[in-house]
Amino acid sequence: MITGKEKKPLIKNLPGKNAKKIIERDKKYVANTTKASPAVVKEAKGIVFEDVDGNIFFDFVSGVGVVNVGHSHPKVVEAIKKQADNFIHFAGTDYYYQVQVDLAEKLCNIAPGRWNKKVYFGNSGAEAIECAIKLTRWATNKKFFISFIGAFHGRTMGAMALTASKIVHKQRFFPWMPGVVHIPYPNPYRNPFGIDGYEEPDELTNAVINYIEYIFKHFLPGDEVAALFSEPIQGEGGYVVPPKNFFRTLKKFLEEKNILLVDDEIQAGFGRTGRMWAIEHFGIQPDIITSAKSIASGLPLSACIYPSKIDFGVKGAHSTTFGGNPVACAASLATIELLEKGLIKNAERQGKLIGKRLKEFVESYEIVGDARGIGLMQATEIVKDKKSKKVFPKARDEIVERCFKKGILLIGCGESAIRYIPPLCINEEQMNNAMDLVEEAIKETGANLKS
Ligand SMILES: Cc1ncc(COP(=O)(O)O)c(C=O)c1O
Repeated sequence: MITGKEKKPLIKNLPGKNAKKIIERDKKYVANTTKASPAVVKEAKGIVFEDVDGNIFFDFVSGVGVVNVGHSHPKVVEAIKKQADNFIHFAGTDYYYQVQVDLAEKLCNIAPGRWNKKVYFGNSGAEAIECAIKLTRWATNKKFFISFIGAFHGRTMGAMALTASKIVHKQRFFPWMPGVVHIPYPNPYRNPFGIDGYEEPDELTNAVINYIEYIFKHFLPGDEVAALFSEPIQGEGGYVVPPKNFFRTLKKFLEEKNILLVDDEIQAGFGRTGRMWAIEHFGIQPDIITSAKSIASGLPLSACIYPSKIDFGVKGAHSTTFGGNPVACAASLATIELLEKGLIKNAERQGKLIGKRLKEFVESYEIVGDARGIGLMQATEIVKDKKSKKVFPKARDEIVERCFKKGILLIGCGESAIRYIPPLCINEEQMNNAMDLVEEAIKETGANLKS
């Protein structure tokens, strides 16, 4: 039995026989999706999981940014059980129950902005994005959208139209929703403007704003743009943190043009960065927020939070059977309480620790080109060498594999980066021990690929 408080991973039996069998059956019966590492979980608590062969791992993926409060937190489990005993489903879109209103009210209160707000509940991140697409078209009667190159907003036909992260997300799927124009993201480490965004953050910000002005002159009618969608920190696209002043400048520009800003907090939100919402680090209030992933600690739930004045004006314009599921809403309320009562603070504390370690890796190892992130949303970018900054996915994959064999579950992002997103309940000793193992893997990979 694991407790979640284990100080170190313990690998005895890898690759294990039981894991192999399940993976073979999975290959036979389960759709080809995005499988990343051969982790076959049996039990998970806090930041720790045990696989079906008795190996004990540290989870630095959190179910891809979902279990921010830790696996199976007792308070979340209790809330789920209590609600499931009462009723599991009643169609919250068509009828009424308190737990849905309680959660909507809480989300409206904690979302940035003093205006009156409302919440649309869906089941997945992509659905929250679809809601924002339909809502902003509904409210503005304008047709076009802007999003960023490198963005990930989901895989449904509307959300996928906004996504521009990896070509595999779009190959063979055209036509997706028309009307989206992509612009460069202010990636300080590598951008098409050739600007060093760490040294010249204002120049990088201005380059992006000038680019929007430029396309408004040539092919995109600015007064027909309903909304700009952005992640506060690009997630799947590489954990890219924009310059500090970027969103302030962007928001001012958008307000002048009467364009709504949709802040996609699906990966960065819910305490991960050491604030409830990642956009709080940038000092602005977006018009609309989308949330999912960690919102209900692993139960399927998403939310689109928007000003009440732009609500769908007619009944039936938008809805979904499972939206606002009561068990998921109960899990979400318990999750928010845990975050507010200490986990957000811990994310900030542990984020400083890991941020320092990752920056030291950049100093010490030629293949670690960049380290970036806020709170417990951190990444390293792996390169051939620091001068050329050439991407090195082979080395990235080898580091991830070596870490797995040492008992640290990691996952890549972007072309050549690794994300570090443990549950926010990680303690200092666990963090230091995990980082020692990651450092070993980086050192071994560097030596292996050199020889
Ligand atoms: C920022 C962001 N938006 C949207 C999505 C889509 O969420 P889902 O996979 O739940 O549809 C993701 C998923 O990774 C995401 O990271």
